[in-house]
Amino acid sequence: MKKKILVTRWIFPEIIERLAASCVVDFHDQDTALPPETLADRLADKDGAITFLTDRIDGTVLAHAKRLKVVSNVAVGYNNFDLDALTRAGVMATNTPDVLTETTADTVWALLLASARRVVAADKWVRAGNWKGWQFHDPWYGQDVHHATLGILGMGRIGRAVARRASGFAMRVLYHNRHRLPPESEAGAQWVAFDELLAQSDFLVVMIPYSPAVHHLIDVEAFARMKPTAHLINVARGGIVDEAALIEALQHNRIAGAALDVFENEPHVDPRFFALENVVLTPHIGSSTRATRFAMASLAADNLLAALAGRRPPNLLNP
Ligand code: DGY
Repeated sequence: MKKKILVTRWIFPEIIERLAASCVVDFHDQDTALPPETLADRLADKDGAITFLTDRIDGTVLAHAKRLKVVSNVAVGYNNFDLDALTRAGVMATNTPDVLTETTADTVWALLLASARRVVAADKWVRAGNWKGWQFHDPWYGQDVHHATLGILGMGRIGRAVARRASGFAMRVLYHNRHRLPPESEAGAQWVAFDELLAQSDFLVVMIPYSPAVHHLIDVEAFARMKPTAHLINVARGGIVDEAALIEALQHNRIAGAALDVFENEPHVDPRFFALENVVLTPHIGSSTRATRFAMASLAADNLLAALAGRRPPNLLNP
């Protein structure tokens, strides 16, 4: 008998076709998250699900999903899963690492350069008709990226891809991570303690996975330790940065700028950010190229189909 699966939001038709060859697919063909009660209801008779970062899969949902064998997240981050609850319930959990590494590293650089050189604010200023002619002492002095110090918090796959790109800018690369990399690793990156990373970075890039242990790791004290000329770039998860403290730091120029692709309560963006010229805001587009999103969806299908066929999925998360 064919296995029953739920695909919780829009995904490429080619992927649906592939899944439908061996499964009965309940497809929520909209690019919006299912409300939690609907998600739980629709999982009740399913063997597997393709999920997204907007789907919270925890003990409450699992209590309704007694047949469930696998949840396959279309993301590298999986803080939408209660992994302990999934493991206790005997449900396999998978994610999509590697395929988005380079694209997300590109996004980090787009944001870093935009923040350093005030690209978004300058664009708005030109569009508003403010430019009256080239000036040597123009109001748009930015900050040099070349030869500056890049600080990477979280030296996983994406952190290392960010570091590799830094050598083209002749930067000094520092990182903080639980595990130190071998000395010959990416771009001569040097491990430093967390406080040192805060104090020395001209550009601090947040790349750690979110868990309650790192909630608001970048807080008032962290901003106080940073250089007043520093920029913060976050493409990981919003909850790692205390947004109220960041807004305060930006309002009072305690740091020079920030670029955020992720927010504490997505899609809510604190409106106080909108009044600030020294912040760049993007809507969680770190992995957003068609090729990468397709690769993520394909890998999620591989994981799901392997698990349903009784094989170990390539990206199993459960211990
Ligand atoms: C991820 O994969 O975790 C991203 O945040 C979504 O693309």
